[in-house]
Amino acid sequence: MSIRTVETAPIAGQNPGTSGLRKKVPVFQAPHYVENFVQSIFDSLEGAKGQTLVVGGDGRYFNREAIQTIVKMAAANGFGRILVGQGGLLSTPAASCVIRARKAYGGIVLSASHNPGGPDGDFGIKFNVANGGPAPEKITQAIYARTLTIDGYLITEAPDLDLDRLGAVTLGDATVEIIDPVADYKALMHTLFDFAAIRAAIAGGLTLRFDAMHAVTGPYAKAILEDELGAPAGSVVNAIPLPDFGGHHPDPNLVHSKHLYDLMMGPDAPDLGAASDGDGDRNLIIGRGLFVTPSDSLALLAANAHLAPGYKSGLRGIARSMPTSAAADRVAARLGIPAYETPTGWKFFGNLLDAGLATICGEESAGTGSNHVREKDGLWAVLLWLNILAVRKQSVRDIVHEHWRIHGQNYYSRHDYEEVDSEAANGLIAHLRDQLAALPGQTLDGLVVKTADDFAYTDPVDGSFSSKQGIRVIFEDGSRIVYRLSGTGTSGATLRVYLERFEPDPARHGADAQQVLAPLIAIANRVAGIKERTGREKPDVIT
Ligand code: G1P
Ligand code: ZN
Repeated sequence: MSIRTVETAPIAGQNPGTSGLRKKVPVFQAPHYVENFVQSIFDSLEGAKGQTLVVGGDGRYFNREAIQTIVKMAAANGFGRILVGQGGLLSTPAASCVIRARKAYGGIVLSASHNPGGPDGDFGIKFNVANGGPAPEKITQAIYARTLTIDGYLITEAPDLDLDRLGAVTLGDATVEIIDPVADYKALMHTLFDFAAIRAAIAGGLTLRFDAMHAVTGPYAKAILEDELGAPAGSVVNAIPLPDFGGHHPDPNLVHSKHLYDLMMGPDAPDLGAASDGDGDRNLIIGRGLFVTPSDSLALLAANAHLAPGYKSGLRGIARSMPTSAAADRVAARLGIPAYETPTGWKFFGNLLDAGLATICGEESAGTGSNHVREKDGLWAVLLWLNILAVRKQSVRDIVHEHWRIHGQNYYSRHDYEEVDSEAANGLIAHLRDQLAALPGQTLDGLVVKTADDFAYTDPVDGSFSSKQGIRVIFEDGSRIVYRLSGTGTSGATLRVYLERFEPDPARHGADAQQVLAPLIAIANRVAGIKERTGREKPDVIT
């Protein structure tokens, strides 16, 4: 087998965003597009020769083609062992788990997360480092810089591999091993949760519905929830990963999981309803008759984590992204442990977890996880909920209401305006920045602005600094409006507006969040001039 050097030229726009390089499938299918980016990754690494690389993705359209190219390039670039999930599958948390368990140098994860798949859908490539987490910004910046100067890439001349057959084959000087995508992950879950208690609870009548949304968690959820924990067949639905996710949008929110929501609000609701996204790192949690916001779910998991064996000695700290509600901070305060506030994106949690400063992390965008891997983990959250339900023997609703009585309720919502004209979106943010100095002290519809800033973060571990991470308007009563532009979209700009109000009085808990937040929503729209600048009357998605 020979290694071929192929001449190429830089391609514009290969700039990794919040979570790797995300583009439409046809963009990735263009000549040299994948090769340029992957070679730029390899060129940005040191000491990878002879090391292990993990490769896998969420099974979306173009997954298999990209894997064939990446594996041949990895062998040509000197990796000694390449581990590939069978069928090209590895959920994002499982990829993180395998990188850690097999002491790999890193991994390439193929996914566009919750974005639609198919020939006109989205695709993505992300590099994860040895701790199992997304590459830090200094590496993604080096990768991007390399894409701007690249003039050639290396690839092994070889026929395509059989991605479905377990076992090892030789490719040039490298060994390629097709591994069971579930095994390492399942073993890790066993170390964290009380499987016997959950199994007993399910045998005793605890019911659940898990919607894999035709995406990657299907095989994981079947193996763990049904085969191991004894949930009846059919508890996991849409369990076969499809390249186009069955034509659906694999985003577990109240819009795209409406059928699950309707089930959970109806007379036949099981005790726990859950869903995960395209690549398995997000989670949606709905109790019978009650949707649990992701911010609340983070707080609840943190408050109850000690009930699971893996966390029985308590938490070191809790970290949340800045736009996530402060509900988790209240738990940290009660537990007497530190709370960390980071910019949006899981990569910012990596250092806190590695340094042992935080044990549990989460984002309002339906991501929760812990120090067991370095990605957020959808099924992990479902298992922790099940463990808690099995021990407490209460309904989700009772557990949530009790939590609010103790900590107060952080009413919370996010309004998304999608595919907004980029110039208009940038103009809106610039207009907000211009107002930052003048806002403090102003009274808006009876609410006094306490502070207004553009969030900046200094990593407490390595001192790295990230600025312009979202506009915050914080009021005297603790209410908050946050504005930021998405870093994961693939067409136009997505404006996210995050709204939060704290309510300590139990008599006022459990009301409709949109109604409670209506005054804040009106202020948010007016201060930013959303309607005038975007031409939108209302958000596309409300979560
Ligand atoms: C979104 C979420 C963010 C999450 C990221 C990757 O990023 O808001 O919390 O980490 O997807 O799943 P955004 O599009 O807002 O940049
Ligand atoms: Zn995802």
